[in-house]
Parts: sequence; structure tokens; C-alpha cells
Amino acid sequence: MNTNEFISENLDTSNLKTVSFTSKAPSNIALVKYWGKEKVQIPKNTSISFTLNACFTLTTLKFTKNSEEDVLPKHFYKNVEVFFEGKKKEDFKPKIITFLERIEKFCPYLKQYKIEINSRNSFPHSSGIASSASGFAAIAHCIMQLEKELSQILNIKLNDELFVKKASFLARLGSGSASRSLEGEVVVWGSHDKINGSSDLFGVKFPFKLHENFKNYHDTILLVDKGEKQVSSTVGHNLMNNHPFAEQRFVQANENINKISKILQNGNLEQFINIVESEALILHAMMMTSNPYFILMKPNTLKIINEIWRFRKETKLPICFTLDAGANVHILFPEKDRKTINDFITNELIQYCQNKAYICDRIGFGANAIRSIL
Ligand code: PMV
Repeated sequence: MNTNEFISENLDTSNLKTVSFTSKAPSNIALVKYWGKEKVQIPKNTSISFTLNACFTLTTLKFTKNSEEDVLPKHFYKNVEVFFEGKKKEDFKPKIITFLERIEKFCPYLKQYKIEINSRNSFPHSSGIASSASGFAAIAHCIMQLEKELSQILNIKLNDELFVKKASFLARLGSGSASRSLEGEVVVWGSHDKINGSSDLFGVKFPFKLHENFKNYHDTILLVDKGEKQVSSTVGHNLMNNHPFAEQRFVQANENINKISKILQNGNLEQFINIVESEALILHAMMMTSNPYFILMKPNTLKIINEIWRFRKETKLPICFTLDAGANVHILFPEKDRKTINDFITNELIQYCQNKAYICDRIGFGANAIRSIL
């Protein structure tokens, strides 16, 4: 795999002493799941997701140029400070340092700066919603804003296509699913012979016309369990090595990409529901059949799923669920049925959420730069 196009050498930082960039990046919800990877951050199968809108991370990176004697190679640790919701977060640092070390080769100018990261999420931190996708996408997007500015000083034009491609490439090195949070409305990550331009190295916009049925598609997230994750995604992905059903799973996921690609174009919601729900249950089945095994669903997760199935049978409305690596339930439905389904959710489902908490989200358009707030 050729990663040379992502190496930015010889950018001169001498004229940019102190500068801040802010980016806003959304979360995403996978329809065909990524579960299993090779080193470093190469997926075992292709995945596809809806980019979200209301669940996002807002991040400012403040770059302060090191003094001359500080410029020589130095461990990132001393040069990085991380703040989350205004508070210094030492425990967030190791993951961010690993990320910066992974991307250093591609962004050598970073070593010349002290970096202060200030971040906050639109959703509660302890909601059980993973913030690594939106978090790393936002950091990567800020870094690309710096790279663009440094390029401009040298009269090098960094075009929008390369900007977003490299942002996704960098974000992937923080968290695989983050590579799918730079663009909207539907993003594919992982090379697939039926998806033009797809790559293991970065996410690409779904290259076909999305059927009207999926415009404004809703994702209402029921917060069943706000606790810390029982299993980190790194551990979870690793459990797919030597998993007895892994090879079959990777083949199946790639077949499902083929199927869902057609469905997203033809708008067949019945088939959409079938693949999306099946993918959610397979993800959890993989966890339940790994060694060590674990169950991330809670009793209320199953109650909600059963209620959704009952309601769907009674009303024939195209409502379905998907799950992340946790107990929360994402309820997906089209804009045209919003009213009836919202009533169903508020009247019958939120009783199963912790403190009746839920988030109304919908399909969105990806990351963008925000005027600096520092
Ligand atoms: O990006 P990671 O390493 O946190 O993995 C995320 C995996 C799932 O959320 C469970 C599935 C997916 O494709 O997003």
C-alpha cells in the first residue's frame, strides 16, 4: 500500500509561530460493521456508515512553535496538553500520543510545535456513545487546517479532495471508525471491488446516488447504559484474531457491502432493515463467541429490540435498530414516518433508558472548520 502521497515534507513553520484551529466532526453509525483489524489500523473487512449530525466533537488545537533549541526530536509527551470540557485530562493523553507518533511521518511539521488540545462533545461524556470517531476526526481535521495554512505560505495549493482524504487517513490512525467521520452522508472504509475508489487507508463518500428514502434518515439513540465500556475496542478487535468464525464473518461483511450498496441506491427499506439488524446482531454474536466471551447488551436492550419488532409487525412501518459495541440502541427510520415513530419512542421506549435519556440524531454531512474560538 502506497502511503507516500500523504507525506508532507519541507513545510516551513518559521512564519507561523502561534496559531489555533477549530474543527467540528460528527460521530457515525455503521450499517455494515468493522470488527477485526490488522496492524496498524487496517480493517479485515469493508464497513459502511451513516454520518451523524447532532452527536459531534468540537476541538481546538493551539500550536505554539518551539524555541530553536527545542526543535530537535523530542518525545511528544512533553509537547502536548489535553483538555476535555475545560479540564486537563492526563488519562486521554496516551491514546493521543500514540496517534501523534503514528502520524508523525506524514506530518513532520507537528514536532516543531507545542500542541494544546481543547475538546468537548455535544453528547454527555458518560453516555456510552463512543467519542473516538468524532474525537479523532476533529483532531485530524484541525491538523489538516494547519497543513493547509503552512502550504499556502509556500504557495502550494492543498485541494479540498486531498484535504479530506488525508484528514480521513490521519483519523484512521487514531481510531478506525474515525476515518468515516469526515464526510457525509454515507461513507465506506476498506477496499471493496464494487466500490470505486474505496481503500483500506481512508474513508470515501459512497460513490453512488443515495435514494430519496434515505435523505434525512433518522437515528434516535436510546441511552440504555451510560457506563464505561466493559471492553475497549482495541481488545475487541484483537479477539477477532483466532476467532473460530472470523474468516466467514469477513466474507459475509464484504457480501453485505455489495447488497447494501444496491439497497442504498434502490431504496428498498425492507431489505435495508434485514441487513442492518442482522449486522448489529452479528457484531454482538462475534463478541459472545470470542474467548474471552462477553455480552454488551443489557436486558433493556433486548426489551427495546422486541418492542421495535412488535411495533413494526403491527404498523408495517420501516423502523429498525442497530447497535454499537455497547448496550445503547440506535433506532433508524425515514423522515416520512418521523411523527408516528417519535410518538412510539417517547411513549413506549424511553422507559427502558437510563434516566429516560435519548438523543435525536439524523444523517449528516461530515466535518468542518469553525472560526477559532481561542
Ligand atoms: O473505531 P473503533 O476501533 O473504535 O471500532 C469501532 C467498531 C464498531 O463501532 C463496533 C463498529 C463500526 O464499524 O463502527
